[in-house]
Amino acid sequence: MLILAIESSCDETSVALVRDGHELLSNITQSQIDIHAVFGGVVPEVAARSHIEVMVPVLDRALKQANVTWDDIDAIAVTYAPGLIGSLLIGVLTARTLALLKNKPLYAIHHVEGHVYANFLLEKAPAFPILALIVSGLHSQLVLFKDHADYQMLGQTQDDAVGEAFDKVARLLGLPYPGGPQIAMAAEQGNPNAFNFPKAKMQGKFDFSFSGLKTAVLRQAQALCGKGHDFPSMQIAGLLTAAQRNDIAASFQRVACETLVDKTIAAYHDYSPASVVIAGGAAASQELRRQLSERLPIAIEYPPTNLCTDNAAMIASLAYYRAKKQAPVDPLTLEAVPSLSM
Ligand code: KG4
Ligand code: ZN
Repeated sequence: MLILAIESSCDETSVALVRDGHELLSNITQSQIDIHAVFGGVVPEVAARSHIEVMVPVLDRALKQANVTWDDIDAIAVTYAPGLIGSLLIGVLTARTLALLKNKPLYAIHHVEGHVYANFLLEKAPAFPILALIVSGLHSQLVLFKDHADYQMLGQTQDDAVGEAFDKVARLLGLPYPGGPQIAMAAEQGNPNAFNFPKAKMQGKFDFSFSGLKTAVLRQAQALCGKGHDFPSMQIAGLLTAAQRNDIAASFQRVACETLVDKTIAAYHDYSPASVVIAGGAAASQELRRQLSERLPIAIEYPPTNLCTDNAAMIASLAYYRAKKQAPVDPLTLEAVPSLSM
């Protein structure tokens, strides 16, 4: 079964053609990072306009690279929730139009659930039950998948997502958006034990919180600059030395990843899954992977970075497993939904 998928929930326009949920014929992703970097984060209006400009060229490139015709394609899948409404709309309207014109069934895919399916694009699919740590710019959650489309939320962030915390700490340190890779680079030159930032104590055993960590980083940076708690965060970066910045980045990254790994290990022991996977943009973190591989009693495979960050291949893979289960197709009146939990 060949599926054409479209992903446009945030600042990446992506189209993929995937056979049987795992064979990648093409996965073209055009990022808007350069466009948004000057603003220090994604500007929704700008993102939507950029999706309009590049959607058809990206679609053309994906079809060309896969070397298939419309007759070869069995279904169309699209991310319909959650995300920026203007961005989602471009993908949904493109998918609806193509499904109507080419007379193909349409599958509406939840973006966060889709992230997990980056792991089904690996050479060997993970075995159920799967414990999934989903970490992106908007989500931090632990989910137990008993089967396709049969999952249980074990815990989630009660405030900031971990990727968001990376982005905000990067901005404080004067590093560009997106923060994750920038923090990782600065951390390479820093001491991860320079500062012992606190880990939040949560009521829910598998819940997360990153806003306290973010505030602790701000307080530490203010103290290093010899400034009080009301000193504006925007002026901090200019006062820190490179060594101080790198130590903060390394210590923050260590503690943020430890927090994620602590809960993942605890959930592993409580639920004894057959496999553990990580998903979402922050799953690209080498520090997270290092800590997890070191502490997890079983082996774990990691998707390449381009399948961790937003991409359409993961959306195609999830749609395939849904189609295989003979789940009903979605109507051509499909709407984009900006906020919707899994
Ligand atoms: O999944 P994604 O591409 O978009 C959303 O759905 O949010 O995730 C983007 C997030 C950003 O917050 C970015 O800083 C984070 O993933 N990220 C990382 C790394 N690479 C990207 N966070 C930590 N370490 C990284 N290496
Ligand atoms: Zn995402």
